[in-house]
This record gives sequence, C-alpha cells and structure tokens, in this order.
Amino acid sequence: MTLKTQIKIKTAILISGRGSNMRCLIEACQNPLYPAEIALVISNKENALGLDFAQKNGIKTAFIDHKKFTTRQEFDQQIAKIIDEHNCQVICLAGFMRILSAWFVEKYKNKIINIHPSLLPAFKGDKAVADAINYGVKITGCTTHFVVYETDCGKIIKQAAVKVSKSDNKETLSAKILKQEHKIYPPSLKIVCKNIK
Ligand code: GRF
Repeated sequence: MTLKTQIKIKTAILISGRGSNMRCLIEACQNPLYPAEIALVISNKENALGLDFAQKNGIKTAFIDHKKFTTRQEFDQQIAKIIDEHNCQVICLAGFMRILSAWFVEKYKNKIINIHPSLLPAFKGDKAVADAINYGVKITGCTTHFVVYETDCGKIIKQAAVKVSKSDNKETLSAKILKQEHKIYPPSLKIVCKNIK
C-alpha cells in the first residue's frame, strides 16, 4: 500500500487578537493532505488570544510590539526576519490590525493573503460591517484576496455572500460573516499553496 504524502508549504499567520481564522487554518493544516503547514504565528499584541491557541498546538509564536519601532518599515523588517528564519513562503493576515509597508508587500508579492468582512471592492476599511448596515445593503459577505499596498485591494481569491436581515446589528451580522470567513479561508490558502508549487 502506498501512503499519499503532501509537500506542505510553510506558512506564517499574522494576528492582533482573537485569532478564530488562524484557528481554522491551523485545524485545516492538521489534515495530512492539506498543502500548508503553519510554521509561525506573529502578533503585534502581547495578549492576543490567538497566541495561546497556537502555542497549545505546538506552533512557534512571536510577539513583536509595533510601538517599539520608529517607522512602519522597521517593524515590518523585524517581522520579515522571523518569517525568513522559519522559511515561510506564504503569509496569512488574520485580523492583523497594522498596515503593511510598501517594502514588505513588495518583498512577498503574491504571497500575502488577507480576509476581509465584506464583498470587496465594497466596504473597504476597518468598519466594513457597520458601513454595510448603514448603507442598507441586503447582501454582504467576506472576501479573501492577495495583499497589495492599497488597503483591501488586490486580486480576489474567494468570496462568500451573507444575507442581511432587518433585525441584524453589527454584532449579529459580524457573527454570520465570521462563520463564512471560516469556510473560505482554508480553501483560499490551499489554492495559493498549490500555485506556489
Ligand atoms: C475578521 O472579521 C476578519 O475578516 C478581519 O478581522 C477579523 C478577525 O477575526 N480582518 P479573528 O481574529 O480571525 O477571529
């Protein structure tokens, strides 16, 4: 009997908080046939909940305080140093609340992916769910996309739609969208890893 093996692309995840998308990616990677391995989780917040989960799953973590750096690029260079030391080829942003420098985005061109709680290109920015409600859209959702220098732009990898009900508020709608985020992020990373090989 031949056992199927899968070359796994070392992937880093950048977080700032809860890390529920990070958790889904870690769980997806536990499948031997999934083409990625989470080799590193970096947070710019020391008490990010996600760090705890990653450590408990035996994943190397690092806390890098952005406040200790004078420029965005210096902070990004420190992140890049650790990413390269761990031979990570792909970077997933999962609730990472920092804007990346042009230097970083260029260095890892087509290797950084992000998840955003709207159907891009609608509702860019950090108030996407509230903006969708205020605008009165009937359908919103989430998007995975490659990261380019302009925030929440870049080629779309996957999207999922979510119906907005009259009774929805920011919390209920965010929860519905998050459910869909968890469904589209693992297959999105899979697509990117398959294209790297
Ligand atoms: C998600 O809503 C994601 O779309 C946005 O930040 C949130 C992160 O949530 N970029 P979590 O930390 O993955 O739970």
